[in-house]
Amino acid sequence: MTSNVVNSGRRKFLTAATSLVGVAGAVGVAVPFVGSWNPSAKAKAAGAPVKADISKIEPGQMVIVEWRGKPVYVVNRTDAQLEELPKLNDSLKDPDSKISEQPAYIKGVDRAIRPNLLVIVGLCTHLGCAPKFRPEVGAADLAVGGQEWEGGFFCPCHGSKFDLSGRVFEGVPAPTNLVVPPYSFEGDNVLVIGVDAEAA
Ligand code: FES
Repeated sequence: MTSNVVNSGRRKFLTAATSLVGVAGAVGVAVPFVGSWNPSAKAKAAGAPVKADISKIEPGQMVIVEWRGKPVYVVNRTDAQLEELPKLNDSLKDPDSKISEQPAYIKGVDRAIRPNLLVIVGLCTHLGCAPKFRPEVGAADLAVGGQEWEGGFFCPCHGSKFDLSGRVFEGVPAPTNLVVPPYSFEGDNVLVIGVDAEAA
C-alpha cells in the first residue's frame, strides 16, 4: 500500500516534469524553471516553503518554481490581460472560485494578492497533467465557444482550458479552477510559496 502511494507520487512528478519540457518545445515559449534559494531537498519534500526572486519576470512572462514536488506557475500579467478577465465570466464553470481551492485571502477575478502576479499550481484539476502556458491572444486552435482566445492555459492531455487566472472554461473535463497555493511576499521582490499571507 505504502509503496503504491510512493510510486504514484513519483509518476505524477515525472509526468509533470515531462510535460513541462513539452511546454517550451511545443509553442516555442521559453518558460524558465527558476532556481530558488532554498532548504535542502529533504526539507523541501517535507513541505518547507520556497522563496523565489520575482524581480526579473518580464510583463507577460511565466516562470516555474518547484514547491513540494509540484510546478508552481508564476505569471507577471499585464494590465491589458487583467482587463479581459471579467469579460470571460459567462464562459467559465466557477468564475468566482466558489468551489475551487484557494486560500481565503485570495478573492476576485484576478485570484491574486498583487493583481498582476498570478501564482497557481501547474497541475490540471482533471487528472494532473501540466497545462501549457498559451498567452497568445487570438490563438486559432483555442477559441472558446466562438469567443476569441484571450490567453491562458491549455491542458494537452484531454483539452481543458483555463483563463489567465487559472479559471476553467465550460465544456472541458477539468471540474475546477487551477489551485492557488498559500503564498506571501518578503519585501517587493521575494515570493514565498508555502507560507500564508496572513501568517507572514
Ligand atoms: S488532465 Fe488536463 S484535461 Fe485531463
